Amino acid sequence: MYADKKQSVLSARIRVPNLLGMNIRPAQEKDQPVITRIVRAARINPFDLKWQNFLIAEDANAGNIIGVGQIKTHGDSSRELASIAVIPEKQKQGIGAAIVRALMQNEKPPLYLMCRAEMESFYVRFGFRQIGVDAMSKYFRRMFRLVNAMPEFLREGVRVIVMKWDGEGSRQSTVVSRQTNSES
Ligand SMILES: CC(C)(COP(=O)(O)OP(=O)(O)OC[C@H]1O[C@@H](n2cnc3c(N)ncnc32)[C@H](O)[C@@H]1OP(=O)(O)O)[C@@H](O)C(=O)NCCC(=O)NCCS
Repeated sequence: MYADKKQSVLSARIRVPNLLGMNIRPAQEKDQPVITRIVRAARINPFDLKWQNFLIAEDANAGNIIGVGQIKTHGDSSRELASIAVIPEKQKQGIGAAIVRALMQNEKPPLYLMCRAEMESFYVRFGFRQIGVDAMSKYFRRMFRLVNAMPEFLREGVRVIVMKWDGEGSRQSTVVSRQTNSES
C-alpha cells in the first residue's frame, strides 16, 4: 500500500524526455536483483538499496536496465542522492546526468550526497557544493568521519566529501544539461 503511494509520487516526478535512447521509470520489486548487482559492480556503497527509493534507466530498445539511482531519507530527516551508477558500456552518454536530474525533479532542498573527491565536478553541474563538517546534518557528520577513517580508504588514499544542494543551480531538462555540460 505504502509502496504503491510512493511509486505514484515518484512517477509524477519524472519529466525526462527520451532523447538518449532510454526511459527513466520508478523501480519495481522485480528490479531489486539488478539494482543490487549494478551498485555492487560499481563498487559504491552497497547498503540500503531498497527498490522503492530507486529510479532506473532502461535501454529503450533492448529493455535492459542500464543505470540506477535513489534518494534515501535518514533518521535525522536529511535526504541523500545516492547509488548513482551506469553500466560501463553505457557511460559517458549523459545517462548518469539524466538520472540525477530525474531524481532531483520536484525534490525540495536541501539534498545531500557523499562521493569520492574526484567526483565533485560531476555534481557541481546540478547545483551541489562541497560543505564543511559544520554545515552537515548529524547523519552526514557521523558518516563523513566514519568513512574517511576506514582503513582501506586511508590505505588507498580515497577521500570522501559531502556535498549539499540548497536549491541553487540547474535542475533543467537533459537537453539543457548536455548544453550546459559542454560549456562547463
Ligand atoms: C559516475 C557515473 C554514474 C556517471 O555516469 P555517466 O552516464 O557516465 O555520466 P554522464 O555521461 O552523464 O557524465 C559523464 C561525466 O561523469 C563524470 N565522471 C564519471 N566518472 C568519473 C570519475 N571516476 N571521476 C570523475 N568524474 C567522473 C565526468 O564528469 C564525466 O564528464 P566527461 O564526460 O566530461 O568526462 C558513472 O561513471 C558510474 O556509474 N561510475 C561508477 C559508479 C560511481 O562512481 N558512481 C558515483 C557515486 S558518487
